[in-house]
Amino acid sequence: MKPTDDRFARAAERLRAGEIVGIPTETVYGLGANALDAGAVAKIFEAKGRPSDNPLIVHISDRAMLDRVVRSVPPVAEKLMQRFWPGALTIVFPKRAEVPDVVTGGLPTVAVRMPRHDLALALIRAAGVPIAAPSANPSGRPSPTTAAHVRRDFPRLLIVDGGRAEHGVESTVVAVDGTPRVLRVGAITLEQLREVIPGIKVAEHVDTAPPPSPGMKYRHYAPEVPLILFRPTKITELQKRAKERARVVLCRERYLPLFPRAVSLGESDEEIAANLFDLLRRDWQARELLVLGIPKRGLGRTVMDRLEKAASEIV
Ligand code: TXA
Ligand code: MG
Repeated sequence: MKPTDDRFARAAERLRAGEIVGIPTETVYGLGANALDAGAVAKIFEAKGRPSDNPLIVHISDRAMLDRVVRSVPPVAEKLMQRFWPGALTIVFPKRAEVPDVVTGGLPTVAVRMPRHDLALALIRAAGVPIAAPSANPSGRPSPTTAAHVRRDFPRLLIVDGGRAEHGVESTVVAVDGTPRVLRVGAITLEQLREVIPGIKVAEHVDTAPPPSPGMKYRHYAPEVPLILFRPTKITELQKRAKERARVVLCRERYLPLFPRAVSLGESDEEIAANLFDLLRRDWQARELLVLGIPKRGLGRTVMDRLEKAASEIV
């Protein structure tokens, strides 16, 4: 689709009119609405069945739009934006009063990112307002990486088709108040972030305290059949379990010969990340999906985070 398409113009118009629209980004597809219109944003929560305390990411097309939603920009955020925007990094800022509470789940902060996707940027510009958008899946389901995924979950939604999402996993979320920390691992790796902020860590999730990022406390990405995740060293255990009937194995390309019924996740970490949600969304006709994990380095950390959240058992 191009910005000159009729459907694109209708999408921008719907956003201006306070309706929800399916939007492409380089990470995953989003379910977007005018971030400054509480009524429009409420429609997102309703469509997704999303708990109201789980805040949304606000998407902007340029720096001037940032100043409409945030109160101040800490120096470390300037550095991060310089390096990673437009791109798959979401930064949590102190919010302006103009951002309705429904967007932020009542928090005094707002999460913002500038996507690196021409059609997404053109759509935000055409709508003329910042766009609040969570991933365009019903709460708990795997995130969508193609327009077809979104159509399957929301058949009546107007969707701007921007092709297959390049990264296939969501943005990395970083807090910059106090000690900068990662609230959600994502498409930008910890190693890349450390080139800008040496020593930055992933926030520990302590069950007794309020979660640093509310979305982290919910079960996510669940496929239709139980997913059993095997750590990379547990190949022998996986081979045993894979012998039983009605089990499908998902593993890195090079391990395919080890199992009777195996499907490739891809070979590089980038390929695996890009394929992951599509694979979790397939109708497997199997009793269990057995997944061989990958080392938690670079994008591997993000892939394993999503798999751990999707898993009903970890071996
Ligand atoms: O790549 C992405 O980030 C995609 C695309 C559409 O941009 N969006 C996305 O949104 O993944 P969602 O709603 O599925 O995840 C947003 C995450 C949640 O974990 C949420 O808790 C966290 O961001 N978040 C949002 N606002 C926050 C805030 N003010 N403070 C802390 N965490 C926040
Ligand atoms: Mg999501």
